Amino acid sequence: MSAGTPDFRDSGLQFPDSFVFGSATAAYQIEGAVNEDGRGPSIWDTFSHTPGAVQDGDTGDVADDHYHRLEADLDLIAGLGLDAYRFSIAWPRIQPTGRGPVNAAGLDFYERLVDGLIERGVTPVVTLYHWDLPQALEDEGGWTNRDTAYAFADYARLVGAALGNRVPVWTTLNEPWCSAFLGHGSGEHAPGRQDNAAALTAAHHLNLAHGLGVSALREVLPETAQLSVTHNLHVIRGDADSVRRIEAVGNRIFTGPMLHGAYPADLIEDTKAITDWAFVLPGDVELIHQPLDVLGINYYNTTLVGPAMGGAHPAESAAGAAPRASAFPGTDDIPRLDQPGPFTEMDWNIEPSGLLQLLEATRDEFPGLALMVTENGAAFEDVVTVDDRGAAAVHDASRVDYLRRHFTAAHRAIQNGVDLRGYFVWSLMDNFEWAYGFSKRFGIVRVDYETQERTLKDSALWYRKLIETRRLP
Ligand code: NOJ
Repeated sequence: MSAGTPDFRDSGLQFPDSFVFGSATAAYQIEGAVNEDGRGPSIWDTFSHTPGAVQDGDTGDVADDHYHRLEADLDLIAGLGLDAYRFSIAWPRIQPTGRGPVNAAGLDFYERLVDGLIERGVTPVVTLYHWDLPQALEDEGGWTNRDTAYAFADYARLVGAALGNRVPVWTTLNEPWCSAFLGHGSGEHAPGRQDNAAALTAAHHLNLAHGLGVSALREVLPETAQLSVTHNLHVIRGDADSVRRIEAVGNRIFTGPMLHGAYPADLIEDTKAITDWAFVLPGDVELIHQPLDVLGINYYNTTLVGPAMGGAHPAESAAGAAPRASAFPGTDDIPRLDQPGPFTEMDWNIEPSGLLQLLEATRDEFPGLALMVTENGAAFEDVVTVDDRGAAAVHDASRVDYLRRHFTAAHRAIQNGVDLRGYFVWSLMDNFEWAYGFSKRFGIVRVDYETQERTLKDSALWYRKLIETRRLP
């Protein structure tokens, strides 16, 4: 197909030499070894061990056993030819209770990881918080407690001081929307609360943690370090007012203070039945609004919404019950509409045009800010086959097609003038998919959870070729 076709199946497209081809993981999803070398418990240990919280009762106790298989996994990363590897640091390995001095044994693991990447010519990209809050901080209120933001800044400073000379790209938070709203609104994620006011409070304290974290990192990192944050910016389509309202509590609640220096007025108005926002203290927004070098975007799918039901805005329908606790507080009057497929195994629609739309809209809203796709990928039900010589293979044509189409959309964005610096496939290997446990496989490398054997799927072989040639196969 020629360039310009709407389904983004083009191939043979050439990426710039400087484009960063990476892959990503997160600590709790792959490491295992939850009780080793002084690691303290995190909210995900508590949550995953709570009956009914995670599908099939799965936990991250062992996961991909990456903690014990570091050298082999480093070789795997190098074997794929990745330019960069995005991973997260487990705060409870560095500070088992979320405060106090560095636990040297915990830090040592990340020193070996970073050094091992550099030795193999792979650029380390660090995320400081990918959802595993030390349980001791949760016991004091977690993200609903303002002090957690200050504790995060101390943690960021410690890690920055230790690894700053070796890590060129730093991300404060991964998808704070999930931490705030899946963690405290819908309750699908740790700590599993269902309380809209708590969720909005948590969102503010995550924003504050980001701002204080960036300031702390700037104090200890070399000037060349690039600072970023990663958001799962929702691509909402449909009724204009519904889109505006969902984007307010889904996206602009974070990008407003972080990148524009203000909470959106419509968000404050839309949520006034839930909170008076008294948790935002004078000066907070200035602390949150720190210059960034790059913005990380995680993209998977789109959402389609209809006009609000009954027309009444929840803030005005005071006679009715308070808005239900949800992942988008105060929007339960907005219907989510079915979308055409195809779908991934998560039941997420496959819509590469959403990625192009998002990258262009983000560029337009924040001109001059470099962008990075820090996650994109797909879960499919993989089938392992064994060839004549007894070698295992996974012919994951659907995942290859998904990636090809999204890389094509990214390429189009670059052609259209978006300053897109890189792209990290989620995920390097199958792992603990949060509330879905091990039932969903996002990896380009298959993990056999019985034997911990790793098998390159066809998507990994395809990606290796893309990286080698910088041309879409
Ligand atoms: C976003 C999260 O950052 C990651 O942890 C998760 O596994 C993927 N999306 C897929 O849901």
